Amino acid sequence: MSDGLEGVIAAQTVLSDVDGAHGRLVIRGYAVEDLAGRTRFEDAAHLLLDGFFDDAPSDLSSALGEARVGVFAEVAALDEGLARRDPVEALRALLARIPDGDDLKTALRLIAAPAVFTPAVLRVANGDAPIAPDPALSHAADILRMIRGVPATDAEAAALDAYLVTVCDHGLNASTFAARVVASTRAGLTSAVLAGLSALKGPLHGGAPGPVIDMLDAIGTPENARPWLERALARGDRLMGFGHRIYRVRDPRADALKAAVRRLSSASGGLPGRLAFAEAVERAALEILREHKPDRPLDTNVEFYTALLLEALGLPPSSFTCVFAMGRVAGWLAHAREQLAGGRLIRPQSVYVGPEVRVAA
Ligand code: CMC
Repeated sequence: MSDGLEGVIAAQTVLSDVDGAHGRLVIRGYAVEDLAGRTRFEDAAHLLLDGFFDDAPSDLSSALGEARVGVFAEVAALDEGLARRDPVEALRALLARIPDGDDLKTALRLIAAPAVFTPAVLRVANGDAPIAPDPALSHAADILRMIRGVPATDAEAAALDAYLVTVCDHGLNASTFAARVVASTRAGLTSAVLAGLSALKGPLHGGAPGPVIDMLDAIGTPENARPWLERALARGDRLMGFGHRIYRVRDPRADALKAAVRRLSSASGGLPGRLAFAEAVERAALEILREHKPDRPLDTNVEFYTALLLEALGLPPSSFTCVFAMGRVAGWLAHAREQLAGGRLIRPQSVYVGPEVRVAA
């Protein structure tokens, strides 16, 4: 038996390759650091879905814009009670309104859904009216406009694109595996995406970046980093944004996102102070983790600089997991289609360690 399925190979994929020993992530043949910052999310989604739908257009931009407009009708079901729940729970409830299907139209609606529903959830929770999508904008620019109510600058849209592309796929991570398991039962793409989103919600997976901001805020000053982090480890807490099941070195997505933070800060003239502080916390955390777990290489993962980038874009920490879903949904769908195309029902076995057979009273 493999605890946590560590080391188990459960699928063959053409989508992405995670090399944990060397800290490399390749998405359909491209290194993640080459895609992030150069590619729009629409094009990364197209790259992932390529070959999985016969009727896919060569550019997804306008179809995705139309899908954003189409799913906005579901926002009518959002009341204040739902909007005040954890945003992932509210997003999941709205996503569940999209009928199951296996076609391109369903896939595009599912890619559009987190991008349209998350801004609506945030705004309604704040007492503001949801803003309708603008199909003429890029996916990233429209997301920022729908959340903040003002148009995004090109640098901001590029920064969000860099994030969405960086996280769009990552091998057989927990949420993608969950999506593939559900897809393998032939339940449909909406069901697969709901499974992925539910797995993403947990703090050990996509729920980490919000707590990274809490950690930075609680630490407050560079001098307080070491004592604060030491106390956290002594309590048995995990340091959010560090450690990974596969990477034994630095997660390459951390540097792709740090570069995006730098580009955004040089365009906006803000942020260097926050970035320098985060780097000081990161240095202290890596030092302490080395002392704390000398036998287990624990390095920075994607979530640390995700938190800084999304914060710099003015997004609330409560939304970070939903923003992660806006990018990863493309990967879930591509994996679901790949599983449908060639995979069998995923059905592992367990070892029974319960009581011996006994007679029911
Ligand atoms: N802080 C302190 N100790 C840690 C950390 C951490 N961030 N990560 C792992 N460890 C320790 C852990 O306590 C365990 O020690 P022991 O063997 O004494 O119990 C040892 O290292 C191995 O941990 P594990 O839980 O067996 O390792 P895993 O491969 O199952 O966990 C992880 C991977 C990401 C869940 C874990 O590193 C973690 O909890 N990190 C913090 C949460 C986080 O940043 N999550 C985002 C992950 S990256 C996004 C994604 O790709 O999903």
